Order: sequence, then structure tokens, then C-alpha cells
Amino acid sequence: MKLPVRTYAVTGASGQLGRLAVLELVHRGVPASDLVAVVRTPGKAADLAERGVQVREADYSCPRSLAVALAGVDRLLLVSSSEPGRRVAHHTNVIDAARSAGTSRIVYTSMLNADDTTNPLAGEHQDTERVLREAGVPFTLLRNGWYTENYTGQLDEYLRRGEILGAAGAGRISAATRQDYAAAAVTALLQDEPGDRSYELGGSAFDLAELARVTSQVTGTSVVYRDLPVEEYTSSLRQAGLNQGSAEFVAALDASVAHGDLATGSQDLARLLGRPATPLAEAVRAAVR
Ligand SMILES: NC(=O)c1ccc[n+]([C@@H]2O[C@H](COP(=O)([O-])OP(=O)(O)OC[C@H]3O[C@@H](n4cnc5c(N)ncnc54)[C@H](OP(=O)(O)O)[C@@H]3O)[C@@H](O)[C@H]2O)c1
Repeated sequence: MKLPVRTYAVTGASGQLGRLAVLELVHRGVPASDLVAVVRTPGKAADLAERGVQVREADYSCPRSLAVALAGVDRLLLVSSSEPGRRVAHHTNVIDAARSAGTSRIVYTSMLNADDTTNPLAGEHQDTERVLREAGVPFTLLRNGWYTENYTGQLDEYLRRGEILGAAGAGRISAATRQDYAAAAVTALLQDEPGDRSYELGGSAFDLAELARVTSQVTGTSVVYRDLPVEEYTSSLRQAGLNQGSAEFVAALDASVAHGDLATGSQDLARLLGRPATPLAEAVRAAVR
């Protein structure tokens, strides 16, 4: 496919999702020189600069730096900030800078089921979606579910304990890999579509008992899921070294899973990918490697 000449920018490009999105854009044939990697710490994006990507320094909390970084950008992938409590201010600064730069579309990584969720992280995404609606720039919402890596990143711990602890009950989780979300984000960024769009993105759903079964099958080590009441799970997290606030927060995330907030029957991810999302077993296998 011949791509029109446009400048694409990705924020958080030194982070895990943003970096994958930049590399995916290159993979799809966008010339590196038409890509802007917006980063707080340019040293972390030296490899992208070596590929010819324009690495521009900006901090979400500094409007002036964002105005310079987003100059001339046609389409922007705004990867949500990783600083809870400051995200709405951060995102508002980026959206304001993009509007002033004449950016024609902002693609934002929101949260699955953002309209109707009890997830404690949702408020800042809902507020950011509101800011986008009021900004007057066409936008695409990528309402991402959990990353599979939230779980596979704890594989060593699961294998060491022989169990997965949680308070998620039988809540289903339509998780997908960061690579899948990045590829879907790139499709959304490259495609021409009129007006505003919203995608509910997730892979095939599993619960934590199924995660334990798949982990056992793939690794050959028996792992079971032990479901705890929220208070007990909070105490176990305290014993593992988390402070009270963090333990309560992590347990509240599981309560949100139990409530069904992280599940979706939407096929939007597979449609944007043009294939099914990466299966859980494959993601566990990759983590083992
Ligand atoms: N769906 C999920 O399961 C899930 C899980 C975790 C997070 N998230 C959300 O998804 C986002 C992307 O995930 P990820 O795994 O790529 O996270 P990540 O690896 O932590 O990357 C976050 C990126 O945000 C940048 N950043 C943070 N504060 C900034 C600031 N003030 N100014 C400019 N850049 C700033 C970081 O820059 P530095 O490299 O300089 O720190 C980094 O590049 C996260 O930020 C979070 O909002 C989703």
C-alpha cells in the first residue's frame, strides 16, 4: 500500500507500548524521517534516533516543550501518561499542543469499557475522553484492556509459589499483548476515517484459574489460582512488601476484574489487526523464553 506523505508522532515513545508503535509504523512502510518519537528522556530513544526517527524531547507537564515537539505533526498517537493523579493535566497539555499544531487526528489509549466501569484507574481516562470531545480535533479512542504482560511479567513469581494469588474471582479478562495493541494503534493511526471513532480492544477472555492452567501446561510446573477475599488479598500484598495504599489499590484492580470491567466480547482488536489476537498460551510461551 502506498502511504501518503504525513508526519506521525507517538508520545511515550521511550516506553514499552510507544516504542512498539514506532517500530510498527516503520514496519508498515512509513519512512523513519516522517516519524516523531516524543520522549521525556531522549537517551532512552537513542536506538530510534539511529534508525532515522525524529526524536523530540518533551515533558507532558511542560506545554512549551510539547508545542515544539508537535510542530508539523499530522496524526498523533497519545500514549497515556504513566503518572496516575497527573494524567488529565498531562493529556490536556498534549491535546492543546496538538490542536495548536493543526494535528488532524489524535489517537488516544484509553481504557476498556470506559463508559461503564468501576476500575479505579478509569476516572482519568473518562476525563481525558471529555477533554478530547471538547477540543474539536477528530479523535480515535483505543479503549485498551489489560496487557497480558501484567500477568506474564509475574511468571517467575507464579512458578516459585506454585500459585497465583488474587481477588478477581471468576472475572474474565480480555487481555492482549502490548504488541497487539501497538499494531492496532498503528492501523487506527494510518487509516482514513471520518469523524470520531471508539474501539473496545481486548483479546480472548480468560480468568485467573485458566491463566494458572495454561501456565501449568506451558511450563510443566503445577500452578493453581487461589482466590482470596479482597481484605485477605490486601493483607498478602502487604506481607509481600507493598504499602497499605498500594496494596489496597492492587486489590481494587482485582475487584474490578471480578466485576467484569476488564472483559469484552468486542472483536474490534481482531478487526484492526486483521487476525485474531495473540493467544494466551503463546504469550506465556514467549515469557518463558
Ligand atoms: N492496559 C494496561 O494493562 C496498562 C498497564 C500499565 C499501564 N498502562 C497505561 O498505558 C501506558 C503505556 O504503557 P507502557 O507499558 O508503555 O508504559 P511505560 O513503559 O511505563 O511507558 C510510559 C511512557 O510514558 C512516558 N512518560 C511518563 N510521564 C511522562 C511525562 N511527564 N512526560 C513525557 N513522557 C512521560 C514515559 O517516559 P520515560 O521513559 O521518560 O519514563 C514512558 O515513555 C501507560 O503509561 C499507562 O497509562 C496500561
